[in-house]
Amino acid sequence: MPNFKVKKIKKLILPFRKDEVELEWMAENDNVILIYTKVNEESFFLQVKKEKDSFIIKGDKHTKPSKIAYLQKSLQVFRDYFCHNEDIISEAFAFKHNALIEKTSLIAYDFDQLLAQIKGKIYIEIGFGSGRHLLYQAKNNPDVLVIGIEIYNPAITQVAKLAKKQNINNILLIQSDARLLLSVLKPNSVEKIFLHFPVPWDKKPHRRVIARNFCEECARVLGKNGRFELRTDSCEYFDFTLKQFLCFNSPKFTLKKNENLEISSKYEDRWKKQNKDIFDLWVWNLDNVCDGLNLDDFDFSDITFNANDLILLEKNFKNLTLKGDDYFLHFENLYQVKEGLIFKIAFGAFNKPEHCYIGVSKNIEFLFKKPFKIKENLKAIEKLKKVLKFHFDVIVFS
Ligand SMILES: C[S@@+](CC[C@H](N)C(=O)[O-])C[C@H]1O[C@@H](n2cnc3c(N)ncnc32)[C@H](O)[C@@H]1O
Repeated sequence: MPNFKVKKIKKLILPFRKDEVELEWMAENDNVILIYTKVNEESFFLQVKKEKDSFIIKGDKHTKPSKIAYLQKSLQVFRDYFCHNEDIISEAFAFKHNALIEKTSLIAYDFDQLLAQIKGKIYIEIGFGSGRHLLYQAKNNPDVLVIGIEIYNPAITQVAKLAKKQNINNILLIQSDARLLLSVLKPNSVEKIFLHFPVPWDKKPHRRVIARNFCEECARVLGKNGRFELRTDSCEYFDFTLKQFLCFNSPKFTLKKNENLEISSKYEDRWKKQNKDIFDLWVWNLDNVCDGLNLDDFDFSDITFNANDLILLEKNFKNLTLKGDDYFLHFENLYQVKEGLIFKIAFGAFNKPEHCYIGVSKNIEFLFKKPFKIKENLKAIEKLKKVLKFHFDVIVFS
């Protein structure tokens, strides 16, 4: 993460603008100053951490912009206009100007961008690695948008480059945990979901992509004739997946062993060289057992605050963690702003926590973007409203 360390900073007079960087306002507590920063269409917090005899300035990790260059450029502006050169202790950010314009439509930098680009038929490939299978599907199905989701960022850049070289435009790549993606997609919107050679996690099955909740999400997002396809060298993962999908009423399965496909992935080549068996499991006809489909939006209209509420909230704030059956809510930090308070919270499902900043003045609002509308998040936010309404009085709100 780019950052620099400085002995002291000048008085912060905001808003401040230089070229495309706007430092708009700040929020503060005893340890940290957050600076609401905008570069072109993106907003994020720069974080000034107060240490004993110095300050560390870096990007806030939960609001960081999709383009690292935006952060680098903002740090550069902050250093040039709010610090004296002779006070700089160390510096770890290099900035190339053309990085600001480097952009490809083959990569979505967040779920909102991804959702905005989805139209027509879609396939999804989870953990596409070297991308051979994903590019093959895109080439052979020009009327389909093939969405690739990978947690390993270099794979995203590499496959986007390969697609450009081969003039393939019907792909959209995103860096994220695949377990998060399905829950933001519309019901019945996907034709195929590929999971090829997932990490088996034999010793830590809870880390597998496949889980009961994932199968329910497949059922929700797959269209009528849509199907899920697992290809694996792990007989155990194959069995495990089959069992997970057997909890539906009347699923249909196709099982194959050592089927040759036209395209072989990097991992498949490796396992074939070792003479390992390869298993295919196709699943479809998943009836909807999933609940929480018609979720209301996050609604803060029923709660308002006056000056006294804000004083009590600030006074009573605690690092509280609350747990429900399938969700949690954690109050991480509190910051003061000119006309109110900002809470940093973590919340949602245990395996897919969200981190957000919430602004509280007369009303409540999410700073930056809203979390996804999944039932665990909605439950956590309902709880948040109660906690705030009763000013952290544990006895009253629980
Ligand atoms: C064993 S490799 C297989 C890659 C590719 N499918 C192939 O057949 O060559 C597993 C890939 O899944 C990715 N991965 C693991 N867990 C993931 C998750 N939860 N969400 C998205 N990608 C994941 C890893 O980064 C890795 O690239």
